[in-house]
Amino acid sequence: DGEIAAATSGPWVVGTEPAFPPFESQSDSGELVGFDIDLLRAIGDQAGVEIEFESLPFDGLIPALQAGTIEAAVSGMTITEERAATVDFSRPYFRAGLAIAIAEEDAEITSIETLEGKKIAVQIGTTGAEMAGGIKDAKVSTFDSAPLALQELANGNADAVINDAPATLDAIATGNIGGIKVVGELLTEEFYGIAMPKDSPNLEILNTALTEIIENGTYDTIYEKWFGT
Ligand code: ARG
Repeated sequence: DGEIAAATSGPWVVGTEPAFPPFESQSDSGELVGFDIDLLRAIGDQAGVEIEFESLPFDGLIPALQAGTIEAAVSGMTITEERAATVDFSRPYFRAGLAIAIAEEDAEITSIETLEGKKIAVQIGTTGAEMAGGIKDAKVSTFDSAPLALQELANGNADAVINDAPATLDAIATGNIGGIKVVGELLTEEFYGIAMPKDSPNLEILNTALTEIIENGTYDTIYEKWFGT
């Protein structure tokens, strides 16, 4: 019991790359908002732990966890085997998948097969970037954020973007990016997890609180707020 109390003491600094609405973004006043942000705040309330967010590049989150400069990372981060070799993940909290976005008037690209040799824009360090890297003869350009990759497509400088479907669909639905559409099937099924340093004493506290807010309806309220119809 004493050891668990020690693990919870002090705030948890939680890293996030905040240009990924509706999971994390900055409001006009610079405040962090989004599904992941509300989720971590609810977890903090449930566990009695103060949460402090720190903005980091997406490809800097795992190094920061490994260096121990942050206690956790929440960033629509897909649980992958490769990442799980270097950090620990919470139980999955969201089901997503990769989607192809193309220009609205494009009738040629319809699937992953038709991306061969095309110009593909992605966010650096993401599962979308990894997927694009495996496409034959594709010219992949990497950007610091998903909106920048989508803008490259909207500007006509890329043929396609491979990015998480919920984030791309949100950019289209909100009008943040114009003139683009999603085509074909989802390329993957992916599950997001909250990452912590390997063997963190906080992981059990995190998972317990996450399970409690799933069971008591708080998770559903947050889900409705960001994804409700
Ligand atoms: N789910 C994808 C991955 O884990 C993309 C996540 C991007 N998140 C972000 N906050 N930019 O690679």
